[in-house]
Amino acid sequence: MSTYKNILVTGGAGFIGSNFVHWVVENEPDVHVVVLDALTYAGNKENLAGIPEDRMEFIHGDICDAELLADIVPRVDAIVHFAAESHNDNSISDPTPFVRTNVEGTFQLLEAARANNTRFHHISTDEVYGDLALDDPNRFTEETPYKPSSPYSSTKASSDMLVRAWHRTYGLNTTISNCSNNYGPRQHIEKFIPRQITNIISGISPKLYGDGKNVRDWIHTEDHSSAVWAILEGGRSGETYLIGADGEKNNLEVLRAILKNMGHAEDDFEWVRDRPGHDRRYAIDSTKLRRELGWTPKHTSFDEGLADTIAWYEANEDWWRSSKDAVEQKYAQAGQ
Ligand code: NAD
Ligand code: TYD
Repeated sequence: MSTYKNILVTGGAGFIGSNFVHWVVENEPDVHVVVLDALTYAGNKENLAGIPEDRMEFIHGDICDAELLADIVPRVDAIVHFAAESHNDNSISDPTPFVRTNVEGTFQLLEAARANNTRFHHISTDEVYGDLALDDPNRFTEETPYKPSSPYSSTKASSDMLVRAWHRTYGLNTTISNCSNNYGPRQHIEKFIPRQITNIISGISPKLYGDGKNVRDWIHTEDHSSAVWAILEGGRSGETYLIGADGEKNNLEVLRAILKNMGHAEDDFEWVRDRPGHDRRYAIDSTKLRRELGWTPKHTSFDEGLADTIAWYEANEDWWRSSKDAVEQKYAQAGQ
């Protein structure tokens, strides 16, 4: 039996939020989900297709809308906050919506949670810790100092600080999770892995930034979902938990794995202009989560998870085709 029976999931029509909603509906039969999503360019109601009506209510709205929150939050017993502007490259070309949604939106949600004394789980990213050198023997832990590099990661770091303050000052029942890079179905095609898969399907060369040696610590989004649930249920109030699945790979390795899986030569791609301020390496030590809450990832083979992800984009061209040209035009303007 779950502790929380009626949860508000913000950003539930996006990549990770929708995968989480599907996970909850499949794994927690006594839980009802209210999704609040503004349906920005990154949100898609189709991501929630197939969820029975009696398990989920969808509300089209903005997390910055305090009046709307005053109506919704009293009806739920926990908030799981995924909604954000999430793409680094977009934050470099225009940081404005990042400050609004990630900082102001989180503030408004915290205020609504405070008014109703509602359990609050905040979804954050490992990018708040900045980056590691390729040869650094250390990985990020819950004690690593914050050192965000981009407008995206600095607004996520700001939102984490608000959550910590609302716990310490107002005693709000909060937890924070900082997860590494997710992959899996329904990720927007502006992001690295789906961009390259859909490029190859479209006959466009995959694009690699810089020297291709930047390392990301990949986790399947389903494992992110199970970890968030474990923290929502069992996490200690005021604590932070890092979520990762020991999936460090450099971008060149990932791109080569995609090309190989899709029957292309491993050098069939273009080098493009690097991202300004590009973080070199992320790496997560998730010992605390595993020890305290007994969580382990299910998707331990990146090659298998990647093959399933490629198959999903091949089978769901309707889902991404209409946005492909606009995404590529925007990258072309940035020399990428
Ligand atoms: P996404 O961009 O795919 O989805 C974001 C969702 O939030 C969309 O459905 C969008 O419509 C909604 N949204 C945006 N602004 C809103 C607003 N003002 N009000 C209501 N809804 C709004 O993002 P994602 O990749 O699924 O990331 C979800 C969360 O996970 C974010 O908080 C992100 O920082 C965090 N995270 C992402 C990753 C990753 O690899 N993608 C890794 C770690 C943490
Ligand atoms: P991204 O998916 O944007 O995630 P993040 O910036 O949050 O890590 O990018 C993952 C890595 O891939 C990052 O090092 C930048 C790189 N990258 C490319 O090499 N080519 C691309 O076309 C994109 C979108 C990203």
